[in-house]
Amino acid sequence: MEYTDYDFGLVGLGVMGRNFILNVADNNFRAFGYDLDTEKVAALKEEGKDLNKVNATTDIKTFVASLSSPRKIMLLVPAGKIVDAVIENLLPHLDTDDIIIDGGNSFYTDTDRRETYLQEKGINFFGAGVSGGAKGARKGPSIMPGGSKKGYAAIQPIFEAVAARYNGEPCVAYLGPKSAGNYVKMVHNGIEYGMMQLTSEIYDILKKAGNYTNEELHQVYSKWNKGRLQSFLVEITAEIFNQKDTLAEGDLVDKILDKAKQKGTGKWTSQNAMDLGIPIPTIDIAVSMRELSALKEERLKADALYDRPSITATDKTELESLAEAALYFAFIMSYAQGLHQLADASKEYEYHLDLSVIAKIWRAGCIIRAGLLEDITQAYQQDANLQNLLLAPSFVSKVQGTVDAARNLVILGAKNGIPLPGLSNALTYFDAYTSSRLPLNLIQAQRDHFGSHTYERTDREGIFHTDWEA
Ligand code: 6PG
Repeated sequence: MEYTDYDFGLVGLGVMGRNFILNVADNNFRAFGYDLDTEKVAALKEEGKDLNKVNATTDIKTFVASLSSPRKIMLLVPAGKIVDAVIENLLPHLDTDDIIIDGGNSFYTDTDRRETYLQEKGINFFGAGVSGGAKGARKGPSIMPGGSKKGYAAIQPIFEAVAARYNGEPCVAYLGPKSAGNYVKMVHNGIEYGMMQLTSEIYDILKKAGNYTNEELHQVYSKWNKGRLQSFLVEITAEIFNQKDTLAEGDLVDKILDKAKQKGTGKWTSQNAMDLGIPIPTIDIAVSMRELSALKEERLKADALYDRPSITATDKTELESLAEAALYFAFIMSYAQGLHQLADASKEYEYHLDLSVIAKIWRAGCIIRAGLLEDITQAYQQDANLQNLLLAPSFVSKVQGTVDAARNLVILGAKNGIPLPGLSNALTYFDAYTSSRLPLNLIQAQRDHFGSHTYERTDREGIFHTDWEA
């Protein structure tokens, strides 16, 4: 029997879309999928046939007509022009108060534009970041919706049912108006870039200075994942070291080309942080390192031109303990920078974000989920106006107890010519942020000297200029 009152519609039946819609159906909602690709439609029908709650079509009219009012239609299609094209195709078939949710990594200003456009047509539009990859979409992602608060009530039950759970609480919450959801997801990805860069640097130093084998690396990361570094990224890193190659002898990780790709969300985070004037150097360098990694041919030429220091082997126990503490320290810096950006963006774009809620819904389901996020949630619950995580009393001992390890590891890396850009940036960010006096008084003097740009003084109010050459 064909239903005509499906609870939820999904456009884009790629891996993410298919998994998300099956998750919706698993949670007892009738879900209808739409894609132009007949094979994807057939694949979903086949996979969902036992659930009795999933249907799919290549015909947009049938799709829209099958959904109950107000229609709730989620798009899981690549960010960019395709989102606009899908919206245009849907529009003639929709009624006032229907809801469109963009679940992709759309750029936040595109979401603002689409929201205004659709509002004029009486359609509620949501930009909802969905994190957790294919498995998360199927078993419980972290969902970051933003848009009209009134419209959210209609999608809340479905989102709360399908989201990951942490201590029974769903990892989804209404985050704020307009593009708040996409913006938060963008910064989530910036933090993700930072954490990925850091885990890879630690792998590098353990391998080069400690001669760790992949099996040992698997053991170390598995052990760390049971302690204060517990996180999805550390967990999958442990698994990666255990993966044998199926095409050749040996471990897969050693065969993977060291050129990292990116789809843009990390870069957008950095670009926007520059616009806001918020320093996020650990995230910036993570983006730059993907760019530097892509210059493989140039790196090969340069490697042949320059000598590197020969690496002094380091005691494994000492190295491991330094690496664990340094990674913990740098993870904190990555979160601190991303959350600092969110706090500022919240004011600038009037998102009214509650950072404790954001940290809460990141505790499970998403790529940056980690034990640390419980501590971060509590820090923001204690002080909703916390400007930076480094100012939270509960983080002082965590940082104080690990910063020396970060310092020593950076020294070790520098001495041995092992690049640790993320870690050293995290350290200098900390050293600078916690310095009551920085040498930027000199920059002000230089600006005034060559360009009469003026300066302020430490001992009296006002704007000053000196005739330096008099
Ligand atoms: C997530 C991820 C995801 C992102 C990938 C790839 O939260 O599930 O952030 O949305 O698309 O991580 O991103 P890059 O291709 O830019 O590395």
